[in-house]
Amino acid sequence: MIILKTGLELSILLEKITCNGTIGYVPTMGALHEGHLSLIKKCKSESTFTVCSIFVNPTQFNDKSDFEKYPVKLEEDIALLIQAGCDILFLPNVKELYPDGTTLETYNLGALETIWEGKYRPGHFQGVCQVVQRLLSIIKPNKLFMGQKDYQQCMIIQQLIHLIDFKTELVICSTIREASGLAMSSRNVRLSLKAKTAAVAIFDSMQYVKDNLSSNELENIKAKVTSNLMINEFSSIDYIAICNALTLESLTKYDSSVPVVVMIAAFIDGVRLIDNMLISH
Ligand code: PAF
Repeated sequence: MIILKTGLELSILLEKITCNGTIGYVPTMGALHEGHLSLIKKCKSESTFTVCSIFVNPTQFNDKSDFEKYPVKLEEDIALLIQAGCDILFLPNVKELYPDGTTLETYNLGALETIWEGKYRPGHFQGVCQVVQRLLSIIKPNKLFMGQKDYQQCMIIQQLIHLIDFKTELVICSTIREASGLAMSSRNVRLSLKAKTAAVAIFDSMQYVKDNLSSNELENIKAKVTSNLMINEFSSIDYIAICNALTLESLTKYDSSVPVVVMIAAFIDGVRLIDNMLISH
C-alpha cells in the first residue's frame, strides 16, 4: 500500500493510474473497524484502484471534547488497510486540507442541514461538506463508498455531489453490526463492557418500531422506545425519528406506500451513538 501525505503527490499518482482503470474511494476518520473494512472490500470489488483517507476533520466537530477524545489508532489502521488490500492511503494534515484556515465556504443544504443530526450538531454537515469536497477534488473518484450507518450524512453527500456537479457515484453500503446487533462505530471503543452490552437497546428499539409500525400508534411507539432506552443505561436521547426515508420528514401516520427510516441518537456512558434502520413494507 502506498501512503501519501500531500494532495499534490496523490493527484499526480492518480492521474497516472486512471488511464488504466477506475478509482474507488473510502473516506474515513480512522479508528477503523469491520464497518470500514467492509467498505474497502466493496470498493475493491467495484473499482480497479482503492483509495482510503484517514483525516479527523476538525470542522465537523461541534463539540470540542468529542474531537479531542476521537480515537486515533494510526498504526493499527495501516495494518488493517494493508491486510484488506487497500492500494493507496491518503493521510493529509490540517494544513494540507485547510491551507487558508478552517472558516470556509458554506453550502446550501436546505432542510436536511437543520433537522435531526443537523439540529443537535450545528455546523456538522457544513464541516463534512467542506472536507469531502476537498478530498473529492483531489482524488476525483469514479465511486465513493459510504456507510448507511450515517444515513443523513449519505443524503447530504448525495446533495453535495449534485451541488458541486461532481461525476462521482455514491455507493451506500449496509451497516455492519456486532452479533448482538450493535452497529460498529469508532466511538464504541469508549464504551465500558456494561454499556456496550446495554447499547444493543438501540437495535432492539428499531426492531420494535419495525414490528409495530403498522399499528399506526407512532407516538406510543416512540414513548415505548424512550423507556426502553432509559431503562437500559441510556442517559439522554437526542431524537427518535420515524421518517420518510427519501426526505427525512417526520411521519405523522403510517402509510405503506412511503419508505420509512427509523433513526435514533442517544447517549450512553458519555458516548453519543447513532443508528438507523430502513423499513420496507
Ligand atoms: O463519516 C465519516 O467518517 C466522516 O464524516 C467523513 C465522511 C470521513 C468526513 O470527515
